[in-house]
Amino acid sequence: MSALRASAADPFRHPSRFPDFRFRLVQLSEYLAQANALAQDARALLDGLDPDTRLDVAKGQLNALKDDRLAALQGALRALPADDRRAAGTAFNTLKQGIQEALDVFAARQASAAGASTFDATMPARSVWRGSLHPVTLVIDEISEIFRELGFTIALGPEAETEWYNFGALNFPPDHPAMELHDTLYLGKDTLLRTHTSPVQVRTLQQYKPPVRVLAPGQVYRRDFFDATHAPAFMQLEGLAVDEGISFVDLKATLAEFARRFYGASRRVRFGPSYFPFVEPGAQMDVEVDLNDGKGLRWVEILGCGMVHPHVLDDAGLDSEKFTGWAFGMGPARIAMSRYDISDIRVLYDSDVRFLEQFAR
Ligand code: PHE
Repeated sequence: MSALRASAADPFRHPSRFPDFRFRLVQLSEYLAQANALAQDARALLDGLDPDTRLDVAKGQLNALKDDRLAALQGALRALPADDRRAAGTAFNTLKQGIQEALDVFAARQASAAGASTFDATMPARSVWRGSLHPVTLVIDEISEIFRELGFTIALGPEAETEWYNFGALNFPPDHPAMELHDTLYLGKDTLLRTHTSPVQVRTLQQYKPPVRVLAPGQVYRRDFFDATHAPAFMQLEGLAVDEGISFVDLKATLAEFARRFYGASRRVRFGPSYFPFVEPGAQMDVEVDLNDGKGLRWVEILGCGMVHPHVLDDAGLDSEKFTGWAFGMGPARIAMSRYDISDIRVLYDSDVRFLEQFAR
C-alpha cells in the first residue's frame, strides 16, 4: 500500500463524490468515474451560469469546484495499479482539456452577452495625460536632492526686495552699474524685483546662526530682451555655507562633488577667477559638457561662486573675524538647456504641451 503525498483532498468539501484517495489502492473504474463526475460537474456549473456573469467570477466558481478534486486525481495516479496508470493519465488530461473547453464556451457566450450590453464596468479606463514637470523644475529638484544629501536645506526669500538686500548688504558700491534703471526693474524708490537670489544669503544669516547650509531657488528679474539666450525673468539657485573655519577647499570640494553627481563621475571641472562684489575671492566653475552638436566635450560655465565677503557677514550681523563661508549662484535654465539639448530659451516659457510632454517620466 502506498501512502500518497499529493492528495490535497478535503473530504468535508464534497463528502459524497470525493472519496479520500489517500492510504489505499484505487481501481481504474473508480478513477474514471471520479474524472467523469468532475467533468460533468464543471460543465453543469458553467452551463448554469447567467451569461452576464463576469468571466473572473465564473473562473473563481470553477476553481472552487475543481482545484482540490483535480489535485486529488493527479495524486491518485500513483495509487493505481501500474498497468492502469497510462489509461488513467490519458483520462486525467482529457478531463483538464474538457474543463478548459467548457470554460472557453462560457467565455464566448459571456463575450457576446457583454457585447450586447452597453457598458462594461470592468473595461480599463482610457489613460489620461497627467502632465509632467517642467525641465527647469526637474533640474532644480535634482540639484536640490544632491545638496540635500550634502546637508543643505531650502531657504526662500521675497521676489520684491529692497535695494539694501539686493545690493547694499551685498557690498555693491552705491553707484554700481547693476543698480541702473536699464538693468534693474524698480517697483518704487527703494523697492525692486530682485536681480539675483543672493539677497537670500543676507536674510538667512540674519535669521539663523551658523552653521548654515542652505540652497535658495527662486525667480529673479532683469531688464533684458527676451531672445534665444535671455529672458527678463528666470530661475536662479543660490547656495550658502557659513560656519567657523570654512575655507575655499570646502567650496571646491563641495561644488566638484556636486558636478560629479549631476554630470557624471568622469566629467572634469575647473575653477577660474571671477568677480562679484559680495565674494572675495570670486570664482566661476566650468564643467566639460557635451552639447550634442557633434563638437564633443567643451568647457561650459555652470556657476559663479566665492568666499562670502566679510562685509556681507558684518552687514548680516555676524562676526566676520569668527565666521567664514562660501556661496554660489547658478542658472538652472541654462543647465536644463545644455542637459536637454534646448537651443532657444523661449521654449521654456511657451507652455507648449508638445514640448513639455517630452519630459514626462
Ligand atoms: N548672484 C550672482 C549672479 O547673479 C551669482 C553668485 C552667487 C556669484 C553667489 C557668487 C556667489 O550672477
